[in-house]
Amino acid sequence: MLSEAERQAIVEERDRWADPRAAGVEALKAVQKHQGWVSDAALAEAAEVLGMPVAELDGVATFYNLIFRKPVGRHVILVCDSVSCWMLGQESLYAALQGKLGIAPGQTTGDGRFTLLPVCCLGQCERAPAVLIDGEPVGEVTTDGLDALLDRYS
Ligand code: FES
Repeated sequence: MLSEAERQAIVEERDRWADPRAAGVEALKAVQKHQGWVSDAALAEAAEVLGMPVAELDGVATFYNLIFRKPVGRHVILVCDSVSCWMLGQESLYAALQGKLGIAPGQTTGDGRFTLLPVCCLGQCERAPAVLIDGEPVGEVTTDGLDALLDRYS
């Protein structure tokens, strides 16, 4: 169930646009900001507020890979798997991250601390290999620096 703050945020986004469907992404981001992810129930309520079919808003949510449709950990690590990062060691970095966290891509650590996901180019190619942690880009990530990087997130 949407909180009043979530509902209000969606209404504000909806009212900014001539076509309320244009507010779909921002509405989903508002839900995710409050709940951490977007459940089926929350998506259905958001669609109702926007006056658009649930399936259409679900399509928007599916298209944008920064909208999480399953519960995630307290910190979400998105690892770029596009060409510049791949050329500069993404594969070994990704494998090391999976080993340190003890999870595969798409999974969350048992303590709920981290979720690990792949993502396409983050626009940080000049700082490859790059990751996005809780929405903040981190570039020139090295396997040796992973422990210090992960220690920043409790
Ligand atoms: S290829 Fe990884 S940030 Fe662009």
